Amino acid sequence: MFRDVSSCNTYNYGDALYWDARYVQEAESFDWYQRYSSLRPFVRRYIPTSSRVLMVGCGNALMSEDMVKDGYEKIMNIDISSVAIDIMRRKYKHFPQLNYMEMDVRDMSFFPDKSFDGVIDKGTLDSLMCGSDAPISSARMLGEVSRLLKPGGIYMLITYGDPKVRMPHLTGSIYNWKIALYIIPRPDFEKPAGGSSNSHLEPVSITGTGILPADFVLEDPDSHFIYERTISEPTGEKPVKQAFRVPFVEVDSGL
Ligand SMILES: C[S@@+](CC[C@H](N)C(=O)[O-])C[C@H]1O[C@@H](n2cnc3c(N)ncnc32)[C@H](O)[C@@H]1O
Repeated sequence: MFRDVSSCNTYNYGDALYWDARYVQEAESFDWYQRYSSLRPFVRRYIPTSSRVLMVGCGNALMSEDMVKDGYEKIMNIDISSVAIDIMRRKYKHFPQLNYMEMDVRDMSFFPDKSFDGVIDKGTLDSLMCGSDAPISSARMLGEVSRLLKPGGIYMLITYGDPKVRMPHLTGSIYNWKIALYIIPRPDFEKPAGGSSNSHLEPVSITGTGILPADFVLEDPDSHFIYERTISEPTGEKPVKQAFRVPFVEVDSGL
């Protein structure tokens, strides 16, 4: 559930073999960053329970099970790790609301355009950022997410990446995106006495260039960021393959 303090240089989070080996060793459920209980206000605010939801890079997290217990009816879970998918398929065979498929987020051509109302990503874009060809992989993934969302659909990204390193990716599209940013402390963070009384349930203002204002202070320096990206009607142009729209080469490596 907590942030892994190791860096991308130590583990290859972008590699399916890494994840297969990890899930063989650690089959027990594990939620990266945050559990559903803390994300619930954001999920419920943006994604109605009747939505068709895609959970990208589901791993062996409890997130989808917890969402079903909270009323969600249709969640398609995908992951590049066949080990994780086998474990989850067996575990949830009696949950008709949950489906599991082995799939690479960079190529989700199995699904037709506009298949989902909501896409949830907890730690998967972050993993791609640690792989080889990170800018190309992330652009491919986000191009696929854009293609799969219905107009008005939501991409919810839960990440350790602050706006400086994530916004350039999230705004690189011909679609009209609207982005709301929330910042929540790690689950084990202890608020200092006399700390800010700001509610993390309110969106945070960002500057015109998509970064946090210079005087913004993170109460927990290792906070998690939630980006709620809404796709509105396309401009009429055909979507450009995002693999050719790589915004920049990211050097951030803090997974
Ligand atoms: C940091 S873990 C997060 C797992 C889960 N979402 C959670 O919140 O606990 C990243 C997950 O992304 C998966 N993943 C990495 N690259 C992927 C890819 N190209 N396509 C699909 N899944 C991928 C990994 O197998 C792993 O399960």
